[in-house]
Amino acid sequence: MFSALLISKTDEGQTVEVTQLDEAQLPEGDVVVAVEYSTLNYKDGLAITGKSPVVRKWPMVPGIDLAGTVLESSHADWKAGDKVVLNGFGVGETHWGGLGQKAKLKGDWLIALPAGITARQAMAIGTAGYTAALCVDALVKAGVTPDKGEVLVTGATGGVGSVAIALLAKAGFTVAASSGKA
Ligand SMILES: NC(=O)c1ccc[n+]([C@@H]2O[C@H](COP(=O)([O-])OP(=O)(O)OC[C@H]3O[C@@H](n4cnc5c(N)ncnc54)[C@H](OP(=O)(O)O)[C@@H]3O)[C@@H](O)[C@H]2O)c1
Repeated sequence: MFSALLISKTDEGQTVEVTQLDEAQLPEGDVVVAVEYSTLNYKDGLAITGKSPVVRKWPMVPGIDLAGTVLESSHADWKAGDKVVLNGFGVGETHWGGLGQKAKLKGDWLIALPAGITARQAMAIGTAGYTAALCVDALVKAGVTPDKGEVLVTGATGGVGSVAIALLAKAGFTVAASSGKA
């Protein structure tokens, strides 16, 4: 048995509870992960409050990301003891996610936790930070270099924007941060 946050659909709307689940209830997947950390993403907020139809399958364990240790695997890339991270792939929306102590996932969705980063640090960076990193990576791959001028970051005080500023500055770019806040 393991603990998880479970969102269920009822005739009156939805209920959310911390409950005990059996491993046999876990969804299809080829890797079982002992979840150490997840984040509370905006999408999780929408799912848990029911303010927006984020959840597509019921009942649902929310949590669009997670970091933890592989417990069991029949996927060629992963073995018990591996440290992994997951962001997205409909996890927490169509497939049980990270706000539970265990998750059963597709090995193809996982990435190895880089050496020197703990599961806690990975989830402190979170899916917002990971998204910022993907954005910076895309700019670099498109040939944008610091000598080409300032990089404008909109939504600068937000989760994605603030990490994008830090990453760009560290990589030597001059950042122009745009904010609607006084
Ligand atoms: N967080 C994730 O995991 C994730 C993943 C993929 C994509 N995204 C997308 O990335 C974007 C930013 O996400 P986030 O998590 O950083 O959100 P966030 O933390 O809420 O930040 C969004 C920022 O946008 C600015 N903003 C808000 N309303 C605005 C408006 N009407 N016009 C212009 N700027 C406005 C605000 O910054 P100022 O007050 O400084 O202007 C706010 O801090 C969103 O479009 C989101 O859907 C997020």
